[in-house]
Amino acid sequence: MIITIDGPAAAGKGTLAQRLAEKYRLAYFDTGMIYRAVGLELLNSGQSPDDAAAATEAAAELTFAKMLRLSRQPEFRSAAGGQAASKVAALPEVRKILLKMQQDFALNPKSPEGENMDGVVYDGRDTGTVVCPGADIKFFITASPEVRAMRRHKEYLQKGMASDYNDVLAQTKERDQRDSSRASAPLKPAEDAVIIDTSDMDIAEVFAEACRIIDAKCFN
Ligand code: C5P
Repeated sequence: MIITIDGPAAAGKGTLAQRLAEKYRLAYFDTGMIYRAVGLELLNSGQSPDDAAAATEAAAELTFAKMLRLSRQPEFRSAAGGQAASKVAALPEVRKILLKMQQDFALNPKSPEGENMDGVVYDGRDTGTVVCPGADIKFFITASPEVRAMRRHKEYLQKGMASDYNDVLAQTKERDQRDSSRASAPLKPAEDAVIIDTSDMDIAEVFAEACRIIDAKCFN
């Protein structure tokens, strides 16, 4: 079974995807990690995430092992890391190179412990539209920019990182704008996606709603 979960930053995709993966014995692929890894490679080597040639080279050299190693750096999940990821993700050549790595994951899905799994939950921006257009179930998870910025702001504070709500809100809107307006694989719901607005829902409610939809479609 392939489930795709797309939507803007901090809408609750990651938490939902991990819970669904656990419940239905599926592997989990956080596709934002590949763009964060490429962006961070450039920042680490003093190059600009707007440098298309450098980004293309970093994408071509990306492996899962390198991505996991980079993900242990504190900057990986920082606001600067998110901005760098969204800049490299706007480059069509980078997206083209990273597409196969994402699609191949579904051929032999494994848990982080190496166990064979029954499918994949993909989490990203274009997983229902481009990466897996034939997915069994597609969700588009969204929430207002203010609610998402507040969630991210609290997350940064909890991790002991400095954060200012107004800055986070401005960055959230800037990233939404870049992700939605890029020519290559813009952020938008697939035509057959189920849209869930989580602005007034907690994670338990979102999870229950998603399970109801999956069970009705796949296990009835
Ligand atoms: O989900 P996350 O915030 O980690 O993603 C970082 C950035 O990577 C996003 O802002 C987006 O620009 C890019 N991305 C993408 N396509 C995906 C996943 C992430 O363009 N499937």
